[in-house]
Amino acid sequence: MPIVENHRAKLRLERIGMEFEGAGARVVALADVTMEVRENSFVSIVGPSGCGKSTLFSIAAGIIEPSYGEVYLDGKRVERRTEYVSYMLQKDLLLPWRMILDNVILGLEIGGVPKREARERARALFGRYGLQGFENHYPHQLSGGMRQRAALMRTLLLDRPLVLLDEPFGALDALTRSLMQEWLLQIWEGSQRTVVFITHDIEEAIFLSDQIYVMSARPGHMKARVDVNLPRPRSIASHTDARFVALKDHLLHLVREESLRAFEQQGSGVFAGA
Ligand SMILES: Nc1ncnc2c1ncn2[C@@H]1O[C@H](COP(=O)(O)OP(=O)(O)OP(=O)(O)O)[C@@H](O)[C@H]1O
Ligand SMILES: [Mg+2]
Repeated sequence: MPIVENHRAKLRLERIGMEFEGAGARVVALADVTMEVRENSFVSIVGPSGCGKSTLFSIAAGIIEPSYGEVYLDGKRVERRTEYVSYMLQKDLLLPWRMILDNVILGLEIGGVPKREARERARALFGRYGLQGFENHYPHQLSGGMRQRAALMRTLLLDRPLVLLDEPFGALDALTRSLMQEWLLQIWEGSQRTVVFITHDIEEAIFLSDQIYVMSARPGHMKARVDVNLPRPRSIASHTDARFVALKDHLLHLVREESLRAFEQQGSGVFAGA
């Protein structure tokens, strides 16, 4: 499968491998992962738990160094943490002692923007993120969906061209989640950003993405790349489009195969012979 086609892609990961050593055991998390993401596209990664998705993000963001392989941004090789990527971790990581306004400006402050200016920039966005009036609340006073929006605001406030989102809606109920997906598409469509999105939810991946990469069980590598040829803008009606249904069927098969392999690796034996 020719995964790498465009050497001027916004993000290109080439033959990335990652091994972890610890407590006497060696874990091969990633083996020869190759993928690319076109400028201004929305790309999702799906794959079984533990296949190395979050590890891949840490490598793409330059937070950890791979055992081998290369990361390219705009065709240029990068080796360490860069001002180029904003990264939302799997947990929302809002600081409980900071009010929401001061939580969302955290990245700007760390980047050296004066507090007063950072607050002004953030305040202007609270309405758009459905958080108007909650500037001075603390994280525990917000619902799960609001906390996720605050964490997303913090990530997107950084105004960097490449955005990595690691299961941002994983903890939300189905209805809130579906509203958040529509909301994220609206934000993205007006923003000129390239987004890479990790999810376990296949319908979410199809609804949001231009392309979906399916990862194998550990050691993770790219098993398939699927193009999502659904017109934009998308709406709730896209879910019943015949192309959506066919893609879902195809992806479910691919992911299920790998999830079964991951289960077997963990020695559950439950699905032996499935
Ligand atoms: N710092 C680390 N030290 C040792 N092993 C690690 C470390 N980080 C990740 N791993 C291992 O690497 C593998 C991949 O982990 P990772 O968190 O990337 O998976 P994931 O695909 O994001 O899983 P999930 O879908 O559950 O979030 C796992 O076996 C994990 O135990
Ligand atoms: Mg993860």
